[in-house]
Amino acid sequence: MYLKRLKLINFRNYKELELDLNEKLNIFVGNNAQGKTNIVEAIYMSSLGKSFRTSKDKELIMFNRNQSYIKVEGQKKYSNVEVEIKLVANKKKRIKVNKLSLSKNSEILNNIYVVIFSPEDLRLIKEGPSERRKFMDNELSQMKPYYFHNLNSYNKILIQRNHLLKNMRGKDNEFMLEVWDEKLIDVGVKIIEERARFVKRITPLSRLIHRKITNNRENLEVTYLSNIDYVEDTNKLKDMFKKQLKEALKIDIKRGTTTVGPHRDDLGVFIDKIDIRSFGSQGQQRTCALSLKLAEIELVKGETGEYPVLLLDDVMSELDINRQNFLIKALKDVQLFITTTEINNLEELNMDEAFIFHVENAQVNRSR
Ligand SMILES: Nc1ncnc2c1ncn2[C@@H]1O[C@H](COP(=O)(O)OP(=O)(O)OP(=O)(O)O)[C@@H](O)[C@H]1O
Ligand SMILES: [Mg+2]
Repeated sequence: MYLKRLKLINFRNYKELELDLNEKLNIFVGNNAQGKTNIVEAIYMSSLGKSFRTSKDKELIMFNRNQSYIKVEGQKKYSNVEVEIKLVANKKKRIKVNKLSLSKNSEILNNIYVVIFSPEDLRLIKEGPSERRKFMDNELSQMKPYYFHNLNSYNKILIQRNHLLKNMRGKDNEFMLEVWDEKLIDVGVKIIEERARFVKRITPLSRLIHRKITNNRENLEVTYLSNIDYVEDTNKLKDMFKKQLKEALKIDIKRGTTTVGPHRDDLGVFIDKIDIRSFGSQGQQRTCALSLKLAEIELVKGETGEYPVLLLDDVMSELDINRQNFLIKALKDVQLFITTTEINNLEELNMDEAFIFHVENAQVNRSR
């Protein structure tokens, strides 16, 4: 799919902005703190309904204003899609898709598909497990709204369970704990199974891409490190979860927190059996991150029939020429949004048909 138009009112530093977008390549050039990432952020919002930079919607509203508006129009293979988001300070945001108000904001998912690649994503491999869980969660949420829903439920149940653990006294609470355990296991198992499926798909895709980037030199292996010993059978998995909760109960009560469950999952990343999370060189870790991200694009395409749009925020200058080259070749069917402070860094790009936007203090001017 691709995006055709973007409109912002009182969003971050934009008082008012309307842009026609290029079907293939959009480049936003400008000095630091001028508003490049803000545009990328707005596009991301139209896909997931939330920012990748903050969980506080209020921060997205222009200083000293109390409302903000985003509209993104996109073209899919067989249909148009229009997403509008209205943010009002201290109120729940309101979202419309194709002019219809959503009763639940999570219904925004599955309309506009976006993959973002930022300098933080380049650190996906060397960061802690939470970043890799976020990688799984964002993609799964986007493609499968019920996953997002389950994840939210799981986190709420977890908070309740932890609260109870902190206040464990007597039999009453033991009974209550069993009730929460049931719920935690029920939803938790759904999350585990989706993640297992996700990793199973992303593994061969990323391996193939990684072999191409490294000229067949490296074999990438991505594995699901499930905190609950994974078995394919749902009932057995539930039993396993239950067993592990029971075994951890003493520690959980002592620490006042739940120490087992999918909130402790991770991804293993290996090259020729070596754990790249700990032993990879910086370059290897970056290349693995790139392979995973590109695999993610193929996965979205496979699941939805549409290529997602790719947001490359400040990332090109961090890749060497070979990797830039590979990226551009691999992405010829994908609409790109690239931000950069220095356009000369993008020498590998074919700029013939690109739109180049110059961003200066929230003013955006297209030079071609
Ligand atoms: N709610 C807001 N209201 C007004 N201005 C804001 C708001 N939030 C952020 N800004 C301003 O937006 C600017 C940052 O924009 P952005 O992050 O898009 O910069 P950038 O062009 O991507 O810069 P860099 O190259 O450093 O990444 C800052 O000047 C910041 O003060
Ligand atoms: Mg930026």
